[in-house]
This record gives sequence, C-alpha cells and structure tokens, in this order.
Amino acid sequence: MSTSLATAVRHQPPPVIAEPVIQCEDVTKRYGRTVIHEHLNLEVRRGEIVALLGGSGSGKTTLVRQMLGLESPSSGRIRVLGEEWANMNTETARMLRTRSGMMFQQGALFSSLSVYDNIAQPFRELGKIPEDLIREFVMLKLEMVGLSCKHATKMPAALSGGMIKRVGIARAIALEPELLFLDEPTAGLDPKASDEFVDLIATLHRALGLTVVMVTHDLDTMVALSTRVAVLADRRVLVAAPVEEAVAVDHPFIREYFLGRRGRRALLALPPERRARLPAVALDDAPLGLR
Ligand SMILES: Nc1ncnc2c1ncn2[C@@H]1O[C@H](COP(=O)(O)OP(=O)(O)O)[C@@H](O)[C@H]1O
Ligand SMILES: [Mg+2]
Repeated sequence: MSTSLATAVRHQPPPVIAEPVIQCEDVTKRYGRTVIHEHLNLEVRRGEIVALLGGSGSGKTTLVRQMLGLESPSSGRIRVLGEEWANMNTETARMLRTRSGMMFQQGALFSSLSVYDNIAQPFRELGKIPEDLIREFVMLKLEMVGLSCKHATKMPAALSGGMIKRVGIARAIALEPELLFLDEPTAGLDPKASDEFVDLIATLHRALGLTVVMVTHDLDTMVALSTRVAVLADRRVLVAAPVEEAVAVDHPFIREYFLGRRGRRALLALPPERRARLPAVALDDAPLGLR
C-alpha cells in the first residue's frame, strides 16, 4: 500500500458528488437476435463509485464497453463527459479516451513488456514525450499504487496477483483520467490482496477525485467501496441506489445475491448509520431457507 498517499488523504473528505458524467439513456443492445440490454437507463455522477452487479452474462462487461465507446448501442444514447459517442469526431473521441482509464480482468498487462514499459505505454501512445519525463511519470505512478521502484524492471510473470492488479491500476491512471473503469478487479485475489486493493482504490478515489465504475462479484469489495450499486437484471438496470436501499427491492437476483448468508455478512460491514437503514430482512440472523 502506498502508505504516504493513503495517510495524506485519510482525513480528506471524499470527492463531492457532482454533475452527471456518464448517461445511458434508453439503451438497447443486441447481438444478432439476442437482446442484452433493453431500454436501459443509468446515470453516473462525478465523484461516485458505482458497482455494477448482475448474474453472469447479464451484460455488465457489454455495458462498460459501450460506456468506453468500444461497442455501440443498437439504439439509445450513451453520453460521457457531455459527449455522445455516436456524434463524436475522432479528435473528441481521442481526447475522451485519455480522460478514461480502464482495467479489464483479462489481459490486464502485456506479458512481453516489463512493469516499466507497461505503465509507460499510454505515454508512448501520446507520442513525442521525452523518455526522462516518462521515467518520472512511471516512477510516480508506481509509488501511487504502493509499489517500490525496484519492481520496474520485472516482467509480469514474476509478480503476484495483487501486484499485477496494482501495475494494471498504475497504467489505468497513467494519464490522470477523470473516469476509471474496473471489470472484476478483485477476481482471483486472496482476501488480503483484495482488501489491499480496496484500500488502494479508496485512496486514489480521494486523491484524484476519480469517478469509478466497477463490475464486481465480490460482496465485500462492493460494500466497502461503492457509493451506489447498479443491479443489472431482466436486460435493464433494476435499481441504482446505495446498497442499503437496493437490498429492499423485491427481485429474485437481489434476494439471492444480498440476502444469502454471505451477502448479509458483507452488509454488516456498512457504517452504522447506513446499516440502520437496511430492511429487517437483511439483518435477520436465520438463514433464509430455514424460515
Ligand atoms: N461480441 C459479442 N458477440 C456476441 N455475443 C456477445 C458478445 N459479447 C458478449 N456477448 C454476449 O452477451 C451477453 C452478456 O455478456 P457480458 O456483457 O460479457 O456479460 P457479463 O459481463 O455480465 O458476464 C452474454 O450472453 C455474451 O455471450
Ligand atoms: Mg463480464
């Protein structure tokens, strides 16, 4: 963990939730005859950490890819930082890409490049940045994600799972983006590495005033980090609300995901004032099947 940065921002208030920065309006997405999203709506505001939840195949990754302009909706609109992907010229699209960082579960790093070259890659893509400046940036990013510069020359294969994610984040924040997209960032990490990752994202959220959209299956990560959860079910966003409100929605996915034993245990980690707003069914100790 980058203790210096974590300590510096610990007493800083979290970013103020401000204007909408991602707007999905009436989005329908089809692959052939398969409808993935139908009349889906979701708004994300600056400073939020929104966790996208939903069953496997519910379209979480597809939604993130549309927010990034890597896929187009079949109908409807997706606006990012006020610009609609469908109406953008190449220069605006390029500029928008530098204002978003992303880390996908697969292919987080180029296996043939060192840690240094992985983090340097977004700078090199910009072109014409002197190497000594790139070096300074790379070392700063390594420090921000809590990695010592002695790891810079290592190859990804020599790193632990937790370190690979840190390097992935260092690369994602290389160009100091406003928006950070994470697709299942804690998948495959052990509980300790997961907790450290959560601390890192919380620190960067405060330090950089980031807006984060994060796909996650990990209940503990979701409860610890998200300002709101957006639940994908039935091809739309069923509810987008703080988790203590989302659990009150009567839907099979919500019951199964939040109100099982593990879900309820995770909800106990909410701060007391938010826990007090949980519906009674989420606080009941008896396993659901036994009632
Ligand atoms: N490029 C594609 N072509 C056809 N079908 C796709 C494509 N990408 C995703 N899908 C399908 O869309 C559905 C949603 O996928 P995805 O967004 O990856 O779900 P999730 O991330 O929630 O698990 C799945 O049924 C998947 O097979
Ligand atoms: Mg996915």
